[in-house]
Amino acid sequence: MDTAKSEALFARNRRLIPGGVVSLNRLVDPKIAFVRGVGARVWDADGNAYLDYHSAFAPYLLGHAHPEVQSAVVRSIDEGWTLMGSGTTPWEGRAAELLCEAVASLDRVQITTTGSEATYHALRLARAYTGRDHVVVMQGGYNGWHDEVACNVMTPLERLGPHAAGEEYPFAPLSAGMPANIAERVHVVEFNDLDAVEACFRKYEVACLVTEPILQNIGVVKPLPGYLEGLRESCDRHGVVLVLDEVKTGFRHARGGYQGLAGVRPDLSTFGKAIANGYPLGAIGGRAEIMDLFSHPDPDRRVLIAGTFNGHPTPVAAAIATMEILKRDEAVLYPRLEALGDRMQRGLEALFAKYGVTATVVRQGSAFCTYFMDHAPRDWRDVALNHDMARDLRYRKALIARGVYHFPLPTKQGSLSTAHTEADVDATLEATEAVLRDGI
Ligand SMILES: Cc1ncc(COP(=O)(O)O)c(C=O)c1O
Repeated sequence: MDTAKSEALFARNRRLIPGGVVSLNRLVDPKIAFVRGVGARVWDADGNAYLDYHSAFAPYLLGHAHPEVQSAVVRSIDEGWTLMGSGTTPWEGRAAELLCEAVASLDRVQITTTGSEATYHALRLARAYTGRDHVVVMQGGYNGWHDEVACNVMTPLERLGPHAAGEEYPFAPLSAGMPANIAERVHVVEFNDLDAVEACFRKYEVACLVTEPILQNIGVVKPLPGYLEGLRESCDRHGVVLVLDEVKTGFRHARGGYQGLAGVRPDLSTFGKAIANGYPLGAIGGRAEIMDLFSHPDPDRRVLIAGTFNGHPTPVAAAIATMEILKRDEAVLYPRLEALGDRMQRGLEALFAKYGVTATVVRQGSAFCTYFMDHAPRDWRDVALNHDMARDLRYRKALIARGVYHFPLPTKQGSLSTAHTEADVDATLEATEAVLRDGI
């Protein structure tokens, strides 16, 4: 695989951009510079084509450059939908309607540019609503890059130390430069450990608990039966705001969010990624009583939400088009993604069995992850203790060399889109067989 042009571009960009890339979580080996994406395929600067399962960290539910989304964007530009920065617009109203009608727990919504901004506002709203400061997050969860949630995602166990069920983890920041006292008010618990949540709620004045309903930044780690319901009950008992971060799960698994499938109603939810099929848009929504703090008449109670680019018409046009497609095609689109996912899962399982590789494929609809361990993980500790990370990385790199792009970092989720076909899945399985035959 020739990557000379990609490497030259990295070298050139490194002169001015620290690390050579604009979001440092994108800095991985092999160093590939992508220049084009259509449907289920992406191309790099050297002209190599790949079947894409990275999906830019999962926004592309409809595939790259979906024709209807692209035309809506072009039309909005042609019609003069420019950023006004004063008053409301018809477009933000339509996006809000589509969101609220799709997700049952949303009485009100606000639109942001990214998922991180949405989770930032969730914390601020919850603190204003409860008058409390403390926050509970999950070990192995990711809720954005801002202080207070940027912690404990793929933390090495040596850094976390020993841990017993029902206890908190030490706060492990993902970044230098955070105020030291953050650890006093952010509490990290293991996913699927209701006792640890209950203990935190008893010990601290907790404003909110924030969690992805499925941990999808360490692959696909599902809630055990009753876990999300248990969180709801605990939050209700202690007056804690339950925030479901559906930035990755929302619209990917169902139009009503994973919360709709699970039958759990959060107080606040955050969205991003799949809402606008690759364009930058986030959203926060939930109970009117909490959301209306954004427009509270008393300035001392009002929560600030401001952003020059909030509701920018270009991503809003993409979001309207995407959500209208999901609404129109819901009945066929999600079953189709499920069928593709099932074909992928069964095919991979058969291959791992054939080549005697210990592996477990965990999947929710179009999102899947292969763990090189003998069971589906229940939390990050389970992954860290049992998953063969080195093998996972070798597997990903070998697939990339054969034209199948999974992000080359252990446990990163694979994402199918409606642009993938059965033939694409079969081609992926053929490449996987070749990789397994060579040995990983
Ligand atoms: C669950 C979850 N929440 C929040 C975010 C942050 O979103 P963004 O990268 O758009 O700021 C992400 C991004 O990966 C995410 O997966």
